[in-house]
Amino acid sequence: MDTYKLDEFNVEKINSMLSRFGIAQVDNYIVGHELNNLLVEFDNLQALVQQDEFEFPHQVDEICCANIRLEKKIVNTNNFPHSSALFFSEAFENLSKRYFKTSSVSFNEELFYCKHNESDQRINSLPYIFHFDKMHTLKYFLYLNDVGEENGPLEVVLRSHKQNCRLRKKYLRNLQDLDNVVDPSICAENTPLYALAGTLFVFDTDISHRAGHVMNGSYRKVIRGHTRLSSGSKPGNFLSRINNYFTN
Ligand SMILES: [Fe+2]
Repeated sequence: MDTYKLDEFNVEKINSMLSRFGIAQVDNYIVGHELNNLLVEFDNLQALVQQDEFEFPHQVDEICCANIRLEKKIVNTNNFPHSSALFFSEAFENLSKRYFKTSSVSFNEELFYCKHNESDQRINSLPYIFHFDKMHTLKYFLYLNDVGEENGPLEVVLRSHKQNCRLRKKYLRNLQDLDNVVDPSICAENTPLYALAGTLFVFDTDISHRAGHVMNGSYRKVIRGHTRLSSGSKPGNFLSRINNYFTN
């Protein structure tokens, strides 16, 4: 079947879809109480950071969103029992190792709790324009609210990852020279990812992607985890890491 959508988390099927499409979508992955528990963790963190009362190290970006970055050691079973159970699960770890074809993965070492808010006008910069990430990353991307046209859905160009991968690899040793913004004419066939709360996306950041614009007082709440090859097994530098902190 020619689709990137699944109704269960199956490592082999997701791995296959990632190779073919650059993304896999798992519908109804988190439902009921567990979804609500994650939403409570998300909202509590956002409120604490907003009031400057979150006591642990974190970084925040606030360009039309409140994007809070936490390192894995902060997201532990005491502080974030539900986030840690999900994002550090055996299932996610198995998929990560399977996809990168090695056990040397930097597995969800950073999590982002991101609330995109309404923007007054279209923003012509990252992450709102089509791009691929300079730092090759497998992202676990969970919608916490229903996402329709007004909620600024994640948008992707299916199957674009192979072409972008070739380009990225040409610049592996000089990532600061790599232009990772994608020509809009190539993105005519973009797919907005409308989906219900609790939908999980797993995508390879070589796929062309962007954040949709949030409209009419809506919002989009997402928790995402970033997995990469372990340092030492990949090229890269500090500049490129910074460039990719806050992109979708
Ligand atoms: Fe990105």
